[in-house]
Amino acid sequence: MLRVTSLLLPLLFVLLPGSGRGYFPEERWSPESPLLAPRVVIALICRNSAHSLPLFLGAIERLNYPKDRLALWVATDHNMDNTTAILRDWLIQVQNYYHYVEWRPEDEPSAFEDEIGPKQWNNLRYEHVMKLRQAALNTAREIWADYLLMADCDNLLTDQDVLWKLMRENKTIVAPMLESRAAYSNFWCGMTSQGYYKRTPAYMPIRRRERRGCFAVPMVHSTYLVDLRKEASSQLAFYPPHPEYSWALDDVIIFAYSARVADVQMYVCNRDTYGYFPVPMRSHATMQDEAESFLHTHLEIMGELKSSMKLV
Ligand SMILES: *[C@@H]1O[C@H](CO)[C@@H](O)[C@H](O)[C@H]1NC(C)=O
Ligand SMILES: *[C@@H]1O[C@H](CO)[C@@H](O)[C@H](O)[C@H]1NC(C)=O
Repeated sequence: MLRVTSLLLPLLFVLLPGSGRGYFPEERWSPESPLLAPRVVIALICRNSAHSLPLFLGAIERLNYPKDRLALWVATDHNMDNTTAILRDWLIQVQNYYHYVEWRPEDEPSAFEDEIGPKQWNNLRYEHVMKLRQAALNTAREIWADYLLMADCDNLLTDQDVLWKLMRENKTIVAPMLESRAAYSNFWCGMTSQGYYKRTPAYMPIRRRERRGCFAVPMVHSTYLVDLRKEASSQLAFYPPHPEYSWALDDVIIFAYSARVADVQMYVCNRDTYGYFPVPMRSHATMQDEAESFLHTHLEIMGELKSSMKLV
């Protein structure tokens, strides 16, 4: 027996892969492996978004982030268009790449009661969206996600590294400043004592990126990252509103209030151009109006890409 072993040994060494590093185990040295990427839940709450979903979902898929460290939480309801089918087909195609997928479609009805049109936000709609956002937040907490990324379904995240960049800021709530065709963006610099938008001189220099960095602001919305590892994040809530809340029934204002009560500062960052979104529609707008507005957003991105390529 012994003899056989000693005859075999030299042969084995020759066959071992990576033998260039040395024959003896004590000569090998492996650095510590890098950490796995943090676990992120991406929450998508879409309604009547057929016009924007192909580009929107494409941008989500192209994020430079390991998909097996991402979970998708996707809900849709009250649609008059093909949103449910588009989302379902997309999820069927991509679900195996992601760590976890939760799908909450609601096929009926196609409108809220007393709604004047698909772009109106009445109280029923606000409440419904707040409940969905809360359900996404609950799921993220239950599966012990490190982060929750909220993104409206027409917010085009063109910077593929946006998740990593936002994480590096190490804030409890941080939004990438989104570009639009107007002064509009996904943050406020001022808030009235009733919780409404207030115009302030601080806004335009940030919006135009004359000042760059990450700024403490009273409101971010549409797309933002919540760090669930921060203790204070456990007090954030979308629904029900805080018992002392008496401002408008509006999901973004309620969330900003919840952050304020939890002593969580919201931040908006504009170090880079992270993405684009359309200006919001008026209550009476039609889905056709919205599709046209989104087309302008798309054209603007293509224009930006063209001009940035010229610079190269
Ligand atoms: C709705 O979307 C599905 C899946 O993408 C597609 O197969 C179907 O043709 C679409 N229907 C309409 C009316 O656009
Ligand atoms: C991130 O912030 C936490 C406090 O919330 C702090 O303890 C930690 O050191 C910070 N991490 C980095 C890399 O700055």
